[in-house]
Amino acid sequence: MDALHFFILTQKYFRFALTRRYVGDKRDRALGIIMTIHKKRSLTGLRATGNLHLGNYLGAMKPALDLSQTFNCVYFIADLHALTSNRAPDLLTKQTLDHLATWLALGLDTDQHILFRQSDVPEHTELMWFLSCVTNMGLLEKSHAFKDAIAQGADVNHGLFAYPVLMAADILLYNPDVVPVGKDQKQHVEMARDIAGAFNAIYGEVLKLPEPVIQEEVMIIPGLDGRKMSKSYGNEIPFLCEEKELRKKLMSLKTDSSGLEEPKALRGSLVGDLFALFGKPSQFADLEARLSKGGMGWGHAKEELFHLINEHVRDIRARYVELRANEGLLRATLSKGAEKARAIARPTIDRVRHAVGLR
Ligand code: ADP
Ligand code: TRP
Repeated sequence: MDALHFFILTQKYFRFALTRRYVGDKRDRALGIIMTIHKKRSLTGLRATGNLHLGNYLGAMKPALDLSQTFNCVYFIADLHALTSNRAPDLLTKQTLDHLATWLALGLDTDQHILFRQSDVPEHTELMWFLSCVTNMGLLEKSHAFKDAIAQGADVNHGLFAYPVLMAADILLYNPDVVPVGKDQKQHVEMARDIAGAFNAIYGEVLKLPEPVIQEEVMIIPGLDGRKMSKSYGNEIPFLCEEKELRKKLMSLKTDSSGLEEPKALRGSLVGDLFALFGKPSQFADLEARLSKGGMGWGHAKEELFHLINEHVRDIRARYVELRANEGLLRATLSKGAEKARAIARPTIDRVRHAVGLR
């Protein structure tokens, strides 16, 4: 739909909604559509690598879903970005579908919002080329991810070097108002701004500069050994694994070696940090009091932590298992998402092609 038709349509809904011809449900629905149209757009991408862990859930997925109340959200599974490190084709397919089923199990409404797979929208790689041609090598050499890889002596491929350009394309295609990211991704969004600025300086105001919304308050979720939970440390607690595995993982949490009879401080311990993320303050205070009296081992506290987390994920896990088994539905969801995403991405590419002289 072009801008003119879009404008006419919103005007039509607006007029109908406010006249007596639209009453009750119909009027509410029309007002709902208007509200949706006027909401700002937020964009979130998650790389399809590894099995999702509690850190990904609490640090990335849950905050992104919370935004769906106030924003029109565009969520995508960054499978092309995963290819910079993934060399196992079946694993990439599997992890993409795992991610998709997880978003759906968490309640993402694909009618209200857009959920798609990056590789289903060829405009991402197309825009990447136009952006590559205005991106300075020096800018990419400053990327933390690239510098870290070099420092570790990794065999860096061009995909990893160009990672920020693809990410800039992901963002700029959709003209988002905000791009909520963790601190680790702030530099990438700033690079997207720089790249958009470089493009606009040559071709005019074609691309909208994105605003990173850094979620400073999002805590770093600790892993089994107390360091930041990350698949690169192998210390993750899987998000939707089977109950037995979840219990086993939690029982291996690092604790001090105090004996059963000794009083223990929940606050400041790893068990306590994780407990506080899922339990109510009253539940925390109750466990804290019992531990501080002595006579209670860390094993018992871990058992309670397991029950708490298991309760939290039980329904999500059940929905996940059902959705994950329904590949037809997952594939249909991807098709629907790609169609909705392309409806926004294509006009951007058309503007860019026109601007650079591909007329
Ligand atoms: P990993 O460190 O396991 O490789 P990713 O880098 O793929 O995880 O994580 C994707 C997103 O999930 C990150 O950008 C970040 O927002 C979030 N995330 C990952 N680990 C944590 C954590 N321990 N605490 C909070 N958020 C996390
Ligand atoms: N690089 C992000 C990460 O590793 C994933 C990502 C790809 C992304 N493209 C994006 C995030 C665009 C936000 C916007 O977590």
